[in-house]
Amino acid sequence: MLSRMDSLSFFKHWLSDPLRIGAVAPSSRTLAALITAEIAPEIAPVIELGPGSGAFTRALLDRGIPEQRLALIELNPVFAFALAEQFPLAGVLCVDAAALRSIDVFSGERAGAVVSGLPLLLMPPGKVSAILESAFARLRPGGAFYQFTYGSRSPVPGPVLERLGLTATRIGATLVNIPPATVYRIAHRRAQPRAFQMKHDPDESKRVEHAAAPSLMHATWPAYIKERFHGIGNFFKQQQRAILRGE
Ligand SMILES: C[S@@+](CC[C@H](N)C(=O)[O-])C[C@H]1O[C@@H](n2cnc3c(N)ncnc32)[C@H](O)[C@@H]1O
Repeated sequence: MLSRMDSLSFFKHWLSDPLRIGAVAPSSRTLAALITAEIAPEIAPVIELGPGSGAFTRALLDRGIPEQRLALIELNPVFAFALAEQFPLAGVLCVDAAALRSIDVFSGERAGAVVSGLPLLLMPPGKVSAILESAFARLRPGGAFYQFTYGSRSPVPGPVLERLGLTATRIGATLVNIPPATVYRIAHRRAQPRAFQMKHDPDESKRVEHAAAPSLMHATWPAYIKERFHGIGNFFKQQQRAILRGE
């Protein structure tokens, strides 16, 4: 078991269960930074759905969320076991995200945000609806649900948003991911998330959103190539060393 699951083992998991894993590679650091951009330490505790190999979990820690204020909900037992090893202070639950409603993850305290890596586009609308209802039952008023998608539209179908009184706002997109991805903030219509309300000055809001969300315009292919091929470069260096050692 690798404490930091590499792209190859992630790909093997995808081969064994493509519809549940939903991605051929872990999310890039750029996507992880984008999906956690509005999350500040005051928002804790935070729930992460479908953390997989922990790409977003590491970004949440970088944003200042204390590890013990994280609940990681992961259905795949191999991923869940590796996450518990890697983040021993976080609460790791190997359950379906749709069951969250009936699990009191933070002893009565509601979370300020849910960050989701779930493959919602591959799920039937009834399942997406059950997951959102569960998540919002665990969020405090004004809390937001952050979701990325490989599609060109909101990953939550319009009728589901309508029925649950939710709205989906596109907060940014990046090419620096396989495949390129877009991030949405999903919140109750009546309330914008607290982190977003703080950006009351329209000019300031534009600046913060601009900085927080690397958009398609800002995502550069050189950055993409650098990040993706860093791992491949290391792989070849290791192979070269092994040959020199006569292995
Ligand atoms: C696309 S991967 C994302 C992994 C990671 N967040 C990332 O971005 O690299 C989706 C993850 O969601 C998990 N998953 C799928 N359906 C789930 C469900 N109903 N409840 C909890 N986790 C689920 C899968 O096992 C997988 O780890």
